[in-house]
Amino acid sequence: MIDLIPLHFAHHIAGFAADGYVSGVDWLEGLPGLLRGLLDEWELEPVGRSMSGHCSVVVPVRLVGAGRSPVEDHAPGGSTPHAVLKVSWPHPEAATEALALQTWNGHGAVRLLRADPARFALLLERLDTEDLTTRPVDDACAVIGDLLTTLRRPAHPRVPRLADYAARQADELRVAPPVIPRRYLDQAAALARELVTRPPAEERLLHTDLHYANVLAAARAPWLAIDPKPMAGDPAFEVAPALWNRPDELGTGSQVRWSLRRRLEIICEHAGIDEGRARAWTIVREADNAVDAALDPAGRDRVSLAVMIIKAMND
Ligand SMILES: Nc1ncnc2c1ncn2[C@@H]1O[C@H](COP(=O)(O)OP(=O)(O)O)[C@@H](O)[C@H]1O
Ligand SMILES: [Mg+2]
Repeated sequence: MIDLIPLHFAHHIAGFAADGYVSGVDWLEGLPGLLRGLLDEWELEPVGRSMSGHCSVVVPVRLVGAGRSPVEDHAPGGSTPHAVLKVSWPHPEAATEALALQTWNGHGAVRLLRADPARFALLLERLDTEDLTTRPVDDACAVIGDLLTTLRRPAHPRVPRLADYAARQADELRVAPPVIPRRYLDQAAALARELVTRPPAEERLLHTDLHYANVLAAARAPWLAIDPKPMAGDPAFEVAPALWNRPDELGTGSQVRWSLRRRLEIICEHAGIDEGRARAWTIVREADNAVDAALDPAGRDRVSLAVMIIKAMND
């Protein structure tokens, strides 16, 4: 059972302090039993090496027994009923992942086959291993913009509201230590307030982490989103992760601004998002990221990246 849990993932998660639920260490202690229980109850058989992300373990599985029919319908060629079991370290952002996937019901996103929110466990349609990191960044941004359009639905009332996050950010950034120039922290705090006092016409279900590794190739559609970290609010909030990921491809000097603005333009055009609002939300999110990264002794490069992005959004 223990080899269902990648070693590097266990090391990574062991460093997590509790965030509303259990610490990484406490969760890991129960994880072998948790996986065994889910595999038994849901009649699943592991069929390959486990994958992992920042906070979850993802086990490729085959459905055995009576539960197999729902997956068979979605399996390529209707033959091999393959799925993945995703179990996340419990934290607030993961708590409503199932609700968001249910809302999308397979349109633009991975299909949810079964969920146990109390155990942070999801049974998902199995997609390809290829993700958008393999594609030229301009093409990848066009795919992300198109997916954002497909994913635009009204949000379930239990999904956390972006307006609440923004109000918290406005308060926190104003008193944050000056890990980036004070004027950027003040600007981000002011923008967070302003963006929620002038909300868009309609609040939508948001995928707040739509970066290149959270878009997988599939058989039933060219690309599908996974791992949504849902919120309800302004779609302009969704653009930033595609700017701060793949930082090695931004170039140097004056190219950086050009590359970032080009990514922003492509996504906004494909998703029908207002560029000004997307730039403003990016400043808020990067100020937040910088404050978090500064707590980590290895986070210096991340803080510098945040400053570069905030500058490029302002110029
Ligand atoms: N439905 C799926 N089919 C195939 N691979 C998946 C699927 N869902 C996740 N994965 C793999 O597992 C990794 C982690 O999953 P993800 O949902 O992104 O969790 P995290 O929140 O930990 O980033 C992904 O980057 C991908 O490689
Ligand atoms: Mg992910």
